[in-house]
Amino acid sequence: MEIIIQQNKQAASVAAARVVARLVSEKPDAVLGLATGSTPLPLYAELIRMHREVGLDFSAVTTFNLDEYVGLEKEHEQSYHSFMWQNLFSQININPDKIHIPDGMTTDVPACCAAYEQAIVDAGGIDLQILGIGSDGHIGFNEPTSSFASRTRIKTLTQETVADNARFFDGDESKVPRHCITMGIGTIMAARSNIMLAFGGGKAEAIAAMVEGPVAAMVPASILQHHRNAKVFIDDAAAAQLKRADYYRWVYAGKPDWQQDA
Ligand code: PGA
Repeated sequence: MEIIIQQNKQAASVAAARVVARLVSEKPDAVLGLATGSTPLPLYAELIRMHREVGLDFSAVTTFNLDEYVGLEKEHEQSYHSFMWQNLFSQININPDKIHIPDGMTTDVPACCAAYEQAIVDAGGIDLQILGIGSDGHIGFNEPTSSFASRTRIKTLTQETVADNARFFDGDESKVPRHCITMGIGTIMAARSNIMLAFGGGKAEAIAAMVEGPVAAMVPASILQHHRNAKVFIDDAAAAQLKRADYYRWVYAGKPDWQQDA
């Protein structure tokens, strides 16, 4: 894992956006895995800025989102469909036919999940997957004890995740869906590269467990220790519990310019 610590989430998000932009510039038909939640918003804002100001072209890009709530219509304001259109898709030149998000209203969950996996294969696999981390260490909605070999499937949210996400549902936990369809950990690990973003002290414990703890199903994100190309962009607050933070800073500061966005 490469740990990139920046002073604040804005700087970390700009650094992460440069990695995404370099991929899209070099491979215009790149396949991106996308995430929702508060964390990727500054990254998406920077990609939108790059699209507007320097012509970053998304017209041939294919996207697959990590997850969706079960039981929310696409049009529901808290569905991840709505989130993606509001915060990214409506502001870049993406082809709607190349956007994929699990269907939370499907009447046949296993078939929907299998079709999602097949669509990723048909697209040539995910080049770069963007990830957030839950305070309980989840990636996508793969909660603690999820199988490291798992593929897209239905999952039940933990009470911690329901509580974390209640802020999007008027603070009312009873309004948060209990189930979701999520890419599995095996799906995420099959991506050719992963970018994890985490900001704020509320993520510090999960980040320390992911980076410096043992690889364990109790911390699903810790599997990224086994990924050959995983970058972790965090702010000082999220880095606060890392024992080797100074080493990670030293390594990043010493990277040659040509390697910075690679
Ligand atoms: P957040 O969620 O970005 O809203 O903190 C991250 C996650 O649950 O993966």
